[in-house]
This record gives sequence, structure tokens and C-alpha cells, in this order.
Amino acid sequence: MAAIEAERLTRSFRRRGKVVEAVRGIDLHVDEGEIFGFLGPNGAGKTTTVRMLATLLAPDSGRVSVAGCELPRRMGQARRLIGYVGQAGGADESMPVLDNLILQARLHRLDQAEAHGAAERTLHALGLADLTDRLPRTLSGGQRRRVALALGLVHQPAVLFLDEPTLGLDPAARAALWEEIRALQVAGTTIFLTTHYLEEADALCDRVGIIDRGRIVASGAPAELKRSISGDTVTVTAAVGEHGGDGDGDRVKNALEGLSFIREIRETASAVRVYVDNGADAIPAVVRALDTHGVRAVSIGLESASLDDVFLKHTGSSLRREL
Ligand SMILES: Nc1ncnc2c1ncn2[C@@H]1O[C@H](COP(=O)(O)OP(=O)(O)OP(=O)(O)O)[C@@H](O)[C@H]1O
Ligand SMILES: [Mg+2]
Repeated sequence: MAAIEAERLTRSFRRRGKVVEAVRGIDLHVDEGEIFGFLGPNGAGKTTTVRMLATLLAPDSGRVSVAGCELPRRMGQARRLIGYVGQAGGADESMPVLDNLILQARLHRLDQAEAHGAAERTLHALGLADLTDRLPRTLSGGQRRRVALALGLVHQPAVLFLDEPTLGLDPAARAALWEEIRALQVAGTTIFLTTHYLEEADALCDRVGIIDRGRIVASGAPAELKRSISGDTVTVTAAVGEHGGDGDGDRVKNALEGLSFIREIRETASAVRVYVDNGADAIPAVVRALDTHGVRAVSIGLESASLDDVFLKHTGSSLRREL
């Protein structure tokens, strides 16, 4: 069964007399038990979409069903079945971690004894029992994020929404949180998360939707999306020309034009990306062509296709550049 379904979802905002179309007709289908990643740059419409799916914001148009509940008709039932952890976290700084969890459980209509039990169980399950009496403001960034996760989980939701769960965490704390998220999946929770980390979408998610300017431009399993790019990417960074030269990217592109094995060339802010079937075979010919045209390269690299290449293909700009 689908855990989340959305059709032609739209939402715009009015800001200083101007209309911002944050979400422009999004279709989504997330199966029960999946980790689905919503990947996109700042302002793409990720938070707006998640808030609509999590019953926190009404769409202008379109249809949403979450945890088997059609919105807004079965909003009350949906709210019992979903958890939401916002981009900012959301613990009350003035009360200890345990009390925060109890309050959250009470909001989900557990009675005091049930709420207490659920709060303690959740802290134990996430390895946070040591933090029970701490005030949130005394916690490290990684600990705060895990407490936020606990808050979203205390009522054992079937579907959990996480908006940028690892934003700003160091690699070790991020990896620890990934493990928690995977453990939740094993326990049967469906997880919908947003991220602008390519590595996160790639490593953690069963399927991803890539969103840009309010539209989904590609979706599928990370491996599938990367296969759609197929082959290797040769990156060429050119030296600045003798006359202070702009247009380095153009000079690289001109030099390489006409090489028969090149499938596509795209320019980003930092380098020219050349898509080929076999990078190891292509590099000597690329070097020769640059040489013949007098283009000096600072570096030439070889990569296999990444989700950034998928993003670049569908939007014409690099996600990395936006970060
Ligand atoms: N309440 C609001 N009022 C006015 N404009 C808004 C509001 N919420 C979002 N927007 C605008 O809608 C667009 C999408 O915003 P949204 O927060 O959904 O993006 P996002 O993908 O979550 O970005 P980020 O990665 O920065 O969190 C942006 O242009 C944003 O400024
Ligand atoms: Mg956001």
C-alpha cells in the first residue's frame, strides 16, 4: 500500500504583493516501509511540500493521502499516524529532555502514565537515556538532532517526516543519525526526508525525488537515476587565460567539440563536465585536444556519474554550486 500519495499538489505564497509559486504541481508515491528522499537546493519547495504532506499547511490545489488517510477529510486520524520533525528541531529549551517527550506524547493524546512510558522507551531506543534530565540548550548539535528525532517518534508513527534531519552535522554525527533512520525503517516506519546533501540521498534513500523550483525533475532509485546518465564523467578545470580571460569553459568546450566519443558537455561554475562511455580511454584524447587548441588545464579528473550529474542534466545547473 502507498504510505504517501500526492497528485498535482500546488502552493503559492504572497510576499510583498508578489506571488511566489513554491510548489507547482507535484506528484508523489511513497510505498510503505520506504525511505524516500526529497533532494533539492535552497528554496526549491521541499519544506512547503513536507508541511503539506504532514497536514501542517493546506495546499492550494491537488490531492494528498498519507498513512491511508485522505486529507483534509481524515486529518485527525492522519495526525495520530504521522510524526514530523521540522527543519529547526523544535524542543522546548526550558524543560528537560524527558519532559519534552512526555509533553509531545500527551499532545498525541496518550495519558500521563502512557506518555511517561513511551518517552522513556523512545529515549532508550535512540541511546539517549543519559540525556533524560538535560536541558536541550546544553546539548551538542548531534544530540539535539537526535532529541528532535525522538520527539517525532514518541507516539510510534507509521510515517515519519524529517525536514533536513542532518543539516549542519559533522560526518560522524550524520552517520550515527543515518543508522537511527535505517533502524526505524527495519522496525517498519516509512520515512520521508528532505535533504540537500547528495551523499545523504545516495547512501540512505531507497528512492529519491529531485525537486527544483517547485517541480520534480527526476525520481527513482539513486542507482537507477545514475544509470540514466551512464558512463563516466571527465571534469576539466581550465587555467585562467593570459589576458585575465573569462570564457575558459567556452575554450574547453570549443577544443573538445567534434570528439566523436563525447556524448555531452556541460559547464558548471567550477569545471566543464564531459560525459563519455569510458573515461580511462577518453582522457588521453581529451588531453591531446586541449593541447592542440592551446588550452591549459589546471586539472583533469575522472568520476562515475553522481546524483549531481542527474540534477545538472535536468536543471542545467549544479546542485553543488548552490551549497
Ligand atoms: N510562509 C511563506 N511566505 C512566503 N514565502 C514562502 C513561505 N514559505 C516558503 N516561501 C517561499 O517558497 C519557496 C520555497 O520555500 P521552501 O521553504 O519550501 O524551500 P526549501 O526547498 O525547503 O528550501 P531550504 O533548502 O532553504 O529549506 C521559497 O521561495 C520561499 O521563500
Ligand atoms: Mg526547507
